[in-house]
Order: sequence, then C-alpha cells, then structure tokens
Amino acid sequence: MPNPVRAEEYAQRRAQLLEKLGQSTAIFRSAPQAIMHNDVEYNFRQDSDFYYLTGFDEPGAVLVFAPHHGEHQFVMFVRPKDVKAETWSGRRKGVDLAKAQCGADAVFPIQELDEKLPDYLKQADRIYYRFGQDEGFNATVIRHWRKLMRGRQRHGTGPMALEHSGQLLDGLRLIKSPAELETLRRAIAISVEAHNLARTLAKPGLYEYQIQAEMEYHFRRQGAMGPAYPSIVASGDNACILHYVENNRQLQAGDLLLIDAGCCVDYYNADITRTFPVDGRFSPEQAILYDLVLAAQTAAIAAVQPGNPFNSYHDAAVSTLVDGFLELGLLQGDKAELIKEEKYKHLYMHRTGHWLGLDVHDVGSYKHSAEEWRQFQAGQVVTVEPGIYIRPGIEVPEGQPAIPERWQGIGIRIEDDVLVTPEGNEVLTLAVPKQRAELEQ
Ligand code: GLY
Ligand code: MN
Ligand code: MN
Repeated sequence: MPNPVRAEEYAQRRAQLLEKLGQSTAIFRSAPQAIMHNDVEYNFRQDSDFYYLTGFDEPGAVLVFAPHHGEHQFVMFVRPKDVKAETWSGRRKGVDLAKAQCGADAVFPIQELDEKLPDYLKQADRIYYRFGQDEGFNATVIRHWRKLMRGRQRHGTGPMALEHSGQLLDGLRLIKSPAELETLRRAIAISVEAHNLARTLAKPGLYEYQIQAEMEYHFRRQGAMGPAYPSIVASGDNACILHYVENNRQLQAGDLLLIDAGCCVDYYNADITRTFPVDGRFSPEQAILYDLVLAAQTAAIAAVQPGNPFNSYHDAAVSTLVDGFLELGLLQGDKAELIKEEKYKHLYMHRTGHWLGLDVHDVGSYKHSAEEWRQFQAGQVVTVEPGIYIRPGIEVPEGQPAIPERWQGIGIRIEDDVLVTPEGNEVLTLAVPKQRAELEQ
C-alpha cells in the first residue's frame, strides 16, 4: 500500500517543529543498523521521530533543524550514492534524491557532518536531541556541544543546554492525522484477519509456533512489514508469562490460548490480544475469569473519553477486577484498601494500556506532573488490555487467601486498540470476536 502521508504533511510537521525551536537547534539521528550475528544485519527499522519528520527510510542519516541559521533551516546528512556499496547492501537515495524527496534546504554526504554541524549549532542557545541506541552518535553530539560551550567564552554564543527532543514531537505524534489513521487501520485490518484465521486453525495437537507462522505469513502476504513486536502465542499456563515468546508448546484439549500479535504497516502498529479455548469449550473456572476480564475491559473502554484523565480507564479495569476477585474469594478485605495497597497485583500486575502509533508503546507522557494525569483528547489511540494471570503455585500477599488449584494455570488478556473521538471512542479492533459465546463451539 502506498504511504498515505504525503509530502505536504511531512512539511507541515517540520514547520510545526521549526516554530517551536526559536533560537535552538534540533538533531535527529536515523536508527542504527542492528546486527543479528557476526556481520549479518537485521532488516532496517527507521527511528520513529526521524520517519515522522521525513518518511525517509535509510540508516546513516542525520536531520538538523536550525531556524536561526541564515541560509538553511532544515538540513539532511545522508549516505551518498556509491555503486559498490549499493551492489552489496541495497539502493541509496543519495544527496539529490533525498533533497527531492524530503524538501531539505541543504543535503550533504554524512561524511561531512563533523565539519558542517558546528555551523548549525554555534548560534543556538540549546540543542534538542533524544539520546538513542547509537552510542557512537550520542558521543558525537556531546563532543560538539562541549566544544561549542568552550567556544562561548570567546564568541559569546553557543548552546548552553542539551534537552530531550521528546518535548517537541511527542505531543504531535500523540494526535493521529487522517493519513496516519488510514495506515493504522490497514495494520489493524490485516491483524484482525490473522487473529480470525488463528482461531479457526487452533486445535489440540498443533504447536504454538504453527499458529504464529500462519499469522505472520498472513501479515507478509497482505503487504505488512511483519510483526509489530514478537508474537505471543501462549497456551495453557504459558499465558501467565506476560512476554512469553518461545511459542514452542503443543496445544492440549482444555487449554486456553492467549494470542497477542499485530502487524506493522508503514511503521504503524496494531496490537491485539485475544484468549480462547483451543477445543471450543471453557472450563467453569476459565469461563468465570474470562467474563471478568471482559467486564473489566468493557468498563475500561467506556472510560476512554475526551476529557477523562488517562488513568481513569486503568482505575475502571482495576475496580471491576477487584469486585470480581472479592466475589470469587480470590481476594479478601476492604476494596478501597486493596486497591490503594495494590493487593491485587499478584493477579493483575500490569497497567491497562499504552499509547499506540509509530512505536507500539508510543511516545507521549501519561502525566503532566506527579499528580496530574493527561486528559484523553480526540485523535489519540490507546490499547485497552486488562488481564488475569494465575500462575501455578502462585504466592499471595500477606493476609490474602491462598488460591485453590482449580484457578491456577489460567492466563487471560483481551486487548483492543481504541481511537479517542470527539464524541467518545471507536474500538478499531472490534472485528475479532471476544464475547464468550462467539468463542465456544
Ligand atoms: N504486545 C505488547 C503489548 O501489549 O503491550
Ligand atoms: Mn499486545
Ligand atoms: Mn499492548
């Protein structure tokens, strides 16, 4: 699918960034090329800020924004054309095509970065930069900064501060444009199909990795880049391991199968979890806990409304779960106290969701200060993913009842991707069934 984010939208994002910079310079580094083993590389995955500002998908590049510079406000450094290197490692845009694609005021070969960068920093009062995984480049930024700070004694100018560039872009990335939502919906549509396929295929005797393979095959076949994160296909008590990725167990009759998998389209990520019985029948305990997770998720989704504080949907999920635990005798005591002291955390130990976008755990603060939560706003996308995990041999907090064996070994999570709309919300992932009756055969 062609990228629906057009050149004008990238230009608009850069204009918003430049406006915020004033007398400062911002530097963005492309993602480093990750190594799989020895000299074999992983497929390249661009840094999300870098991609958000340019749509430029190569390693070895740097963006510099300097609105105070006399000539160039937006400068790129890229790998130059090189027939031999391109024969081995793939095509490069090079200086000219990068300039044409990204509309930079100037584009230079990356080899000239050290020589040219000071020119864009020396008038700046601060540098914005997000320290990343490329330690060599982190050191490069600090080296230039130190040198210019020393020069300030003689020249009277130079950046005094180095600040996190997240404050410039995170707020923009948090609100999805129509073009971004179009891409995200595509990632979700493919992921929904893969989940529905997995449910029709799953049966006792198959291995978890066989379900994983069918889903990831579907992702690629439909043009997605691949999984958005390592797929979790967790049967039986493997579902009690939050980030279980071995996916090597054989499915047994009586198992629940928890699948947390989504694909990535043009760097936008789906993130969906469903849990269902591999033989189409819930045991009484599985059914009770499943309905409780679904009730918690329903309450949480209802709290995703413009103006509500971010934490309200986690609070709604926890409140529903704790009511259920008390009723089932899995917890005892005063509800408010159990919640305040987090005495439910042996059963539900993670938060109810996260922003979703170019990163699966997308950028954007959840709080404005220690006390104040950010409010939901139309255009944000969150996951809503409560669960219950009762691992075998589970230990309980002091004063809480031991968990009878019949509840043990059950892990359930239900995760949807939810868009905040002006009127409330839209559940983008509804097309994967989650009512218990729909999962029973
Ligand atoms: N699949 C990662 C998550 O749910 O956050
Ligand atoms: Mn997930
Ligand atoms: Mn998630």
